Amino acid sequence: RSVGVVLAGGVGQRVGLNTPKQLIKIAGRTILEHTLALFDAAPEIDEIVVLMTPGFLDQVEEIVARGRFGKVSKIIEGGGSRTETTWRALKALGPQECNVLLHDAVRPLLEPRIITECVRALETYSAVDVAIPSSDTVVVAVPGPRGEIIRDIPDRSRLRRGQTPQCFRLSVIREAYERAFADPDFDKQPATDDCGVVLRYLPDVPISIVPGSEHNMKVTHPVDVYIADKLFQLAASEAPAPSPRDYREALAGRSVVVFGGS
Ligand code: CTP
Repeated sequence: RSVGVVLAGGVGQRVGLNTPKQLIKIAGRTILEHTLALFDAAPEIDEIVVLMTPGFLDQVEEIVARGRFGKVSKIIEGGGSRTETTWRALKALGPQECNVLLHDAVRPLLEPRIITECVRALETYSAVDVAIPSSDTVVVAVPGPRGEIIRDIPDRSRLRRGQTPQCFRLSVIREAYERAFADPDFDKQPATDDCGVVLRYLPDVPISIVPGSEHNMKVTHPVDVYIADKLFQLAASEAPAPSPRDYREALAGRSVVVFGGS
């Protein structure tokens, strides 16, 4: 049994609207609807649990009824941080062992291929992350006398950017979270990432990596709403994505790269 846990308990402060960003409409549907639709359609997923920002659970009920997302079994109030929201989900999942795929609601462009590969990887590993290479150089910053200064520039070829879903055998992620919440120091250095909790509290558990996708972006800042909308248009159009040759010709002034056939 595989359970998709859709984490939609945040407020979206960085996008800065009055409603949580997962309720913004992109390409005709709310971001949350897109995400639920893809988990509901995934043959590997048996059940979906949704965690939502307090005060907005009615909207989720409506979205689930309208979209006829039959796999949604529970709609639960989220916690004060992503970690607390995850913890609430884990507590709601009952004693039976299963696969748990924890996914950010605000990554609505997840490809079905990634869900398939994650569930397959869980046959061998009890913890699986989704990550892509970093095209930017990542620097480690520390406070300096005036502003920040660089402490380190890790070798980029070894760095990956973590996405979601982050996937686990239920007993493993539960044990990691139980240890985290029993640790008085956990609050001082909270985790932003579920694999980070496993790495810290169950360091002997290997965490496998499934290749993610540049499209599996997290809607975080206002510009991401625009980019995600364009990516949906591109996915919906018959036109194939522009090839590197199209870009070269466009740059040489010979043609124009057209997205989404418009
Ligand atoms: N999330 C959650 N519960 C929280 C905080 C975040 O379930 N208390 C979820 C968000 O809804 C989102 C995902 O975790 O789907 C990734 O978090 P992030 O992009 O940081 O979302 P927000 O916390 O909503 O954004 P911000 O930090 O700008 O307020």
